[in-house]
Amino acid sequence: MRVVEAFREAYGAEPRTVWHAPGRVNLIGEHTDYNDGFVLPFAVPWGVTVALSPREDTTIRLLSLQAGGAPITLATPEAAEGWARYAAGVPAVLGARVRGADLAVDGDVPQGAGLSSSAALEVAVARALDEVYGLGQTPMEIALLAQRAENEFVGMPCGIMDQAAATLSRAGHALFLDCRSLGFRNVPLDLAAHGLRLLIIDTRVHHELADGQYAKRRADCESAAGKLGVAALRDVVDLPAALSVLQGDERKRVQHVVTENHRVEAVIGLLRAGAVAEIGGLLNASHLSLRDQYEVSVPELDVAVEAAIRGGARGARMTGGGFGGSAIALVAEERVQRVQDAVSAAYAERGWREPRYLPAVPADGARKLA
Ligand code: GLA
Repeated sequence: MRVVEAFREAYGAEPRTVWHAPGRVNLIGEHTDYNDGFVLPFAVPWGVTVALSPREDTTIRLLSLQAGGAPITLATPEAAEGWARYAAGVPAVLGARVRGADLAVDGDVPQGAGLSSSAALEVAVARALDEVYGLGQTPMEIALLAQRAENEFVGMPCGIMDQAAATLSRAGHALFLDCRSLGFRNVPLDLAAHGLRLLIIDTRVHHELADGQYAKRRADCESAAGKLGVAALRDVVDLPAALSVLQGDERKRVQHVVTENHRVEAVIGLLRAGAVAEIGGLLNASHLSLRDQYEVSVPELDVAVEAAIRGGARGARMTGGGFGGSAIALVAEERVQRVQDAVSAAYAERGWREPRYLPAVPADGARKLA
């Protein structure tokens, strides 16, 4: 394994353990996780691999095969910058429960595609530290720990979806997660058996406003929940009544979150009935709601979604936080080429860079490789 060789070369010893954690796409349930709602992501076949050994002192040494160069030496996690903060955040939130570590990191999640390489890195580090320091955490506790690292150390107020997907996913399944109770179920998702593919369309754009807008959406939801007298938007049962007391942005955000939760449940019902192809309309509705009510889409995502549908996709939507990244399209196998051609043509017409197409096959969550 490449990461083990790099570890050996940098630190002159064998790593104590090697863990892999995957990136994710979200089938449906967008911007619902921090509203105590439902999500339905699955792990992708690309991820982050971490080789790690514990240390006697509290120093952290980090090496990334993608960043290159010599290992970074950190006297404390707080000294970390850039990508290293996602790795250092985990020992930072574990505090006195761990000492230092030597790490080598390798990854193949397409960068900037919005497929959660950061959650993959956090989860792989959390799993490896848990093992070598004998912390005995459950998979869900690992996901929560990784989320805390991102919230408290990196400063991104994300929900639990990405870290849960990286930890709890199973090959051939989507992960149905109730973000309030943290109850979850691995729901079979065998697209090939239905002659279908889920195509990831990586727009290759990332708008810089993403982080600030994410925090703003979250604040809108919390303030709307306060006005409605509920703990979270998950608790809104009478949508028209709720909308009648809200205005402007808050009104639109609530409309999205409440209907999106229902769409997740509807998709689960269809998957359970074996009617996979029928979820397409719900994917389309999710996209329109994210575009018009939640206002987190961008022209590159809208054009990808519209062209995919025109090209014959059963349904399509943006996936992840928005403001760039990827869209997904549910496509009959024989139409994949036609859909890709339609999207590429729509991009070329606008003088945009060709998007990247990746087939999304549900993969396993974090696992020990050595
Ligand atoms: C990002 C966050 C997740 C989730 C999605 C939107 O990926 O990390 O927690 O909120 O956006 O669904």
